[in-house]
Amino acid sequence: MGNKIRAAITGVHGYVPEHVLTNADLEQMVDTNDEWIRTRTGIQERRILKEPGTASSDLGARAVQGLLEKTGTSPDEVDFIICATATPDMMFPDTANIIADKVGIKNAFAFEVNAACSGFLTALLTAAKYVEAGMYKKVVVVGADKMSAITDYTDRSTCILFGDASAAVLLEPTAQELGVMDAVMHSDGSGREYLYLKGGGSLHPASHETVDKKWHYIYQDGRPVFKAAVQGMADAVREVMSRNGLQPADIDWVVPHQANRRIIEAVANMMDFPLERVMINIHKYGNTTTATIPLCLWEWENQLKKGDNLMLTAFGGGFTWGAIWVRWAYDVQAG
Ligand code: ACO
Repeated sequence: MGNKIRAAITGVHGYVPEHVLTNADLEQMVDTNDEWIRTRTGIQERRILKEPGTASSDLGARAVQGLLEKTGTSPDEVDFIICATATPDMMFPDTANIIADKVGIKNAFAFEVNAACSGFLTALLTAAKYVEAGMYKKVVVVGADKMSAITDYTDRSTCILFGDASAAVLLEPTAQELGVMDAVMHSDGSGREYLYLKGGGSLHPASHETVDKKWHYIYQDGRPVFKAAVQGMADAVREVMSRNGLQPADIDWVVPHQANRRIIEAVANMMDFPLERVMINIHKYGNTTTATIPLCLWEWENQLKKGDNLMLTAFGGGFTWGAIWVRWAYDVQAG
């Protein structure tokens, strides 16, 4: 016991833009109402990045900058940075490189992963494996999404759901039984017909036609995604728990992707997790794609204790989904 190197989360920081888009604001933009949005999704407001000329990398850079300051980490020490995003600044270069440049990280290997709403889990697991292999020692995993850039604010079925945000964690090696303990991740590309953004890639390069057809915005067929999300997250959590002999009472906190409060409640109910131990902040931020899970960790950081068992779970476009068991590695020092 104790000899295996694991990747411990040793810091977390988030960033949300100032501008608040409320349900009342959306009532002025599309045929919707506060009551429908609250009861169907749990969302009350979301944040929107309004500053001209800013993008996902700016969201990400602000979270990473804060993370480095708060953990007393010099940019020179960071040797690896992964950015999860579904809204990269550009097709290339990738957003991790741009974030690294913006915060002065010069000695790191940097790349981006795109697994839609499961992007943070995908990036966290990938980063953990590099740490476990002994290759990197100061690793930043950042989720950053400017969802407002790909949201059609005339489509009431999607524009109520999404918000802009970013959040990042620092990973470091530990020989203790802490950090990323186990994970189950899945993909099913046949789900691509229900949730996609089809314009601007190599299949449908940007053209007048793609713009006219609104192919540069998110398309979602909500009901099949809802069903698959509940089933996928519950199955992945169950798999991680059963192969590690964990019972619901062993899990101190469930940290679900925040796509819809009803999805979160259904998963918690299926798994016998009391809602008091489920992190939920969707009412304030909506679905911020790759930022939801680290944003929850940031918000709950002061309540987390060293040794707490956390079950992170997400479902997103692809389809992609999974669950990661993390044992929390630190207590926040009072004062
Ligand atoms: N305001 C008022 N009415 C609306 C709105 C709105 N904003 N949006 C849709 N409606 C109407 C529909 O037109 C429909 O009307 P009809 O019955 O007359 O046709 C009715 O409300 C019900 O619509 P549904 O789409 O069936 O509503 P549902 O209860 O499924 O909720 C939602 C829609 C919130 C999108 C839900 O399906 C959902 O959360 N899906 C999963 C989201 C998810 O997990 N996504 C994965 C992550 S995202 C990513 O990876 C990028």
